[in-house]
Amino acid sequence: MSFYIAGTGSALPEKVVSNDDLAQFLDTSDEWIFTRTGIHRRHVLTHERLDELAIRSAQIALQDAGIGGEEVDLILCATMRGDTFTPSLACTVGEAVGSHAPSFDVNAACVGVLYCMEIADSFFVAGKAKTALIVSAEAMSKLVDWTDRSTCVLFGDGAGAMVVRAGEGRLAGELSTRPDSHVIRMPNIEGLNSPYNRIEQEKLAMYMDGGEVYKFAVNAMGSNIAEACAQAGLTPADIDWYLPHQANVRIIDASLRKFKIDKSKVLLNIAECGNMSATSVMVLLDEYAKKGTFHKGDKLLFVAFGGGLTSGAVIVTWQK
Ligand code: UT7
Repeated sequence: MSFYIAGTGSALPEKVVSNDDLAQFLDTSDEWIFTRTGIHRRHVLTHERLDELAIRSAQIALQDAGIGGEEVDLILCATMRGDTFTPSLACTVGEAVGSHAPSFDVNAACVGVLYCMEIADSFFVAGKAKTALIVSAEAMSKLVDWTDRSTCVLFGDGAGAMVVRAGEGRLAGELSTRPDSHVIRMPNIEGLNSPYNRIEQEKLAMYMDGGEVYKFAVNAMGSNIAEACAQAGLTPADIDWYLPHQANVRIIDASLRKFKIDKSKVLLNIAECGNMSATSVMVLLDEYAKKGTFHKGDKLLFVAFGGGLTSGAVIVTWQK
């Protein structure tokens, strides 16, 4: 007995920034960005706080599941950095929805939601939770270097949430890491002003070796899909819907090509949202759930890769 998805929600910042808008202050173009990544636009935080979006997406997911915050007995939040280091974003969401459940943030970069699903699975299997709220919120616009055209054009901001409840639904989960601290690196600002700090401060913004990430992503997503399907006793053709991390359409195509999957099964929103790190698959799930794409019994495969370097795949049956 593990869990099924009982409700979903998402919230995006109001401000939409197009590739043409970026070309006003960066040496780039819609043609370069779209042909290399599939991105046209992304949402960017201006007047909103990240926790406002996280709370809104959680409230929508709870309403969709038909439950109140007091019924939640575990809150997990996939984020690389909330508005505050403490309280965690998960605690802030818990306070807003009226929950006293154990709450903590999980940083597994873009794979964070899949890590949260697997942590929730462990709580359910151990009998320690019956209802979990999994939230993800990322403010990528506050983490990238806006003078580095090779990274800042790729990302967007947003938040999403899902309620998972005890029951049959999760079929498989496969997480893996290929530790590498240089391919994607985002130093934090701890110790910036400490008079005792003797370690030279790293550049504050994100660094990424795009080509290396590309190679890792294609291999990792391919093997995580194969392993998760094997665990569930399925073949990739048995999956009804693929929800891949929305980093780059070319990466998604290349990692799925060998499975010869019908492209209409591969869900995308990268053109409108860019890469929202962990939050991408959550917003994708909510968008297609609300469109009525999924039917009871459909098999959904989540697959993602990110900094760490982390990767994973989770398969669930849609039960609503
Ligand atoms: O969640 C994990 C996130 N990470 C990723 O998803 C990254 C995965 N990697 C990628 O998506 C691709 O490697 C990129 C989209 C980042 C880059 O595509 P690419 O085809 O590998 O381009 P490149 O890095 O080889 O750069 C080609 C050229 C370079 O110019 P030169 O050296 O050939 O003169 C870059 O300076 O394109 C230049 N360039 C740009 N030009 C216009 C880099 N960024 C831009 C830009 N606009 N935004």
